[in-house]
Order: sequence, then structure tokens, then C-alpha cells
Amino acid sequence: MYPSANQIMQEKTLTISFLVYPSLEDLPPKDRDLARRAQDSQDYSYAPYSNFRVGAAVRLDDGTIAGNGNQENAAYSMCLCAERAVLATAKSIAPNMKVKAIAVTASPSSQLVSPCGACRQALYETEVVQNHPIRIILQGSEDQWLVFESARSLIPFPFGPENLKG
Ligand code: THU
Repeated sequence: MYPSANQIMQEKTLTISFLVYPSLEDLPPKDRDLARRAQDSQDYSYAPYSNFRVGAAVRLDDGTIAGNGNQENAAYSMCLCAERAVLATAKSIAPNMKVKAIAVTASPSSQLVSPCGACRQALYETEVVQNHPIRIILQGSEDQWLVFESARSLIPFPFGPENLKG
């Protein structure tokens, strides 16, 4: 006899906590500066196919800020998101610096700009390798801004370097 399903099955719930700020001006000063640099970094976007210009900026642990934009290609599947572009930029500027925070903005956009799954995975890998959470600042709908304490909070049940250890 097998046990009946309701004797062995449990339903569990995950919650994500984040902060919502009503406007750019309300963000803490460091987050606000990074958000502005992310907006400016839309100038680095090359998006002739989607016309969706994404700008991302990272703050490193010595306070350095680096920005980049999404880089598209006629071979569409090669498109590189702004988040992964700026992680690579940061690595070339300061290979040993930890990434403390990333801000992401886009235009035209009246909706939340949220990192795609591949970028969440890349941000999570950086967190694990650098052993430090990355604060994530996202442009929300209207003028709202959302702040998450880590990439980990955006990627439940992650696959990471620890999984390869067996
Ligand atoms: N894109 C990003 O750069 N970041 C995101 O978080 C979402 C999408 C880019 C990829 C592509 O160049 C364009 O936005 C449309 O998907």
C-alpha cells in the first residue's frame, strides 16, 4: 500500500522581500547616483532591432561606477543584455573589485525592467564567486524604483558553482 498523497505531500511558499520607492528622488543617495548612471548608460546601448534601450550601471567596492548598455546583433540570438555587458565592463576595469550593486533602466519603458533569467544567473554567479550579495535597483512602473538585497533573491532554486561539487 502506498501512503495517500495528502500524507506525504507538503505545499511550501517562497516569499521575496524588496523595497519600493515612489520616485528616483526618494532612493538612498548611493542608489540614486547609480540609477542615474544606469539611465545615462542607455547611451551605450546598440539596439537597432528592438529599439529597446537598456542601461545598467554597477558600483564596485571602491566606489567606482561602470556602465554599459545592451548590445544587439543582426544574428538576433547573439544579443547581449546590458546587465551582462556591464559585468564584463567591470571585470576589465577592476578585475579584483567586488560588485556591490547594479541598477537597470530602459527606454521606452513604462513597466518594470527586470533582469532576464540569463542575467539573473550571471549576477548570481558573481555573487557566489565574490562571496558578496549584489544590491539590485530596478526602474519600476511610473517613477517607482524597486530595490532587492541580492541576486539570490531573484533566482529561487539556483544552479551555481556549488552544484558542480557533487
Ligand atoms: N534586455 C536587456 O538588456 N536587459 C534586460 O533585463 C532585458 C532585455 C535587452 C536584450 C535586447 O537587446 C532587448 O533588451 C530586447 O529584449
